[in-house]
Amino acid sequence: MTYTIKVQPSGHQFTVERKEIILDAALRQGIAFPYGCRSGACGSCLGEIKSGSVGYPDGLPMALSEEDIEKGRALFCQAIANSNLEIHVPEIRRDTEVEIKTLPARVERLRKLSHDVMEMTLKLPETERLQFLAGQYVEFLLKDGRRRSFSIANAPFNDEYLEFHIRYVPNGFFTEQVFNKIKEKSLLRIEGPHGNFFLRNNSERPILLIAGGTGFAPIKSIVEQVIEENTNKPIHIYWGTRAKQDLYYDTLAKNWACKYPHINYIPVLSEPKIDDNWQGRIGFVHKAVTEDFADLSAYDVYMAGPPAMINAAKEAFASKGLPNEQLYFDSFDYSTDALKAVQQT
Ligand SMILES: Cc1cc2nc3c(=O)[nH]c(=O)nc-3n(C[C@H](O)[C@H](O)[C@H](O)COP(=O)(O)OP(=O)(O)OC[C@H]3O[C@@H](n4cnc5c(N)ncnc54)[C@H](O)[C@@H]3O)c2cc1C
Ligand code: FES
Repeated sequence: MTYTIKVQPSGHQFTVERKEIILDAALRQGIAFPYGCRSGACGSCLGEIKSGSVGYPDGLPMALSEEDIEKGRALFCQAIANSNLEIHVPEIRRDTEVEIKTLPARVERLRKLSHDVMEMTLKLPETERLQFLAGQYVEFLLKDGRRRSFSIANAPFNDEYLEFHIRYVPNGFFTEQVFNKIKEKSLLRIEGPHGNFFLRNNSERPILLIAGGTGFAPIKSIVEQVIEENTNKPIHIYWGTRAKQDLYYDTLAKNWACKYPHINYIPVLSEPKIDDNWQGRIGFVHKAVTEDFADLSAYDVYMAGPPAMINAAKEAFASKGLPNEQLYFDSFDYSTDALKAVQQT
């Protein structure tokens, strides 16, 4: 049995099989719904149900609040249709049609950037390139169907290799392998590109880029792309980490700010060590932004990093007048199988 889904405001229409996740059906049929984690944790796929009803076979997703339910909102990465539906979803208007591919990739280089961040550079087969937009991520396809998401850290114009900044997670299924097992020349499988966290070229507004930890990876991709496109748009980069040792590409960011007058770089440490001799900003990175900008209504804001940072920043920036449609973010949530393992303990 199939149901028909009508999407406002685009007027697009697609079908969904019984028990098929609505987001999966939309993407399969070339309808560019926004999404991030695909595990019900980040809220990127939130939309409104105008008529009909949905269900959640795996239980109510974490990012769906009581208020969302009362207001008829749904998270389409977890929802299935119980009837024909009319829904409102702000579809992504991509500048380019981006094909999602599954590809083998060879580990070209592994380089430790800090005590717990590994830069992994991948090379695709000779005849393949992965077209992506600055800021997007890929999924590593692992044993037992597990998938792990990592943002591409290089810019699309420079796509001979794919670069990743991988933070070590103790006992993490994939990151343990990256640090202890995977070697140069190892073969991996990736799928992508994914995500609606990508640089929009249709805006003249100045850009605020905010990274938490390895959230610097997609921010780096965006900055390199903007530099390549030679626009002189003002760019403010805020990078929040715990201590100085975690600013693993500090010199690179400082060099951008030195070389390009329209780029401003502000590192912010939440827990500097005594021997860091830190003279710079201290505290949470989103607070540094709200201290510096009384009104965010004239900015496009891109941010990537841990869920706690993203959630705190969303609220703080809204209170400084940032309209929802000028905020783009990637919340570095953990995969559903890891979350389920935690919930079972
Ligand atoms: C869109 C997206 C892009 C991402 N991009 C990046 C990136 O560029 N660089 C990067 O380092 N990470 C990134 N992440 C986060 C990354 O996907 C997870 O940290 C990773 O999946 C961990 O995999 P694992 O198999 O090693 O750990 P798992 O086996 O999945 O987890 C093991 C345990 O650690 C916990 N855990 C998992 N990840 C984290 C974490 N990040 N922090 C704290 N505890 C954790 C889990 O809850 C679980 O208890 C991204 C996530 C998303 C959704
Ligand atoms: S909650 Fe649906 S994509 Fe993250």
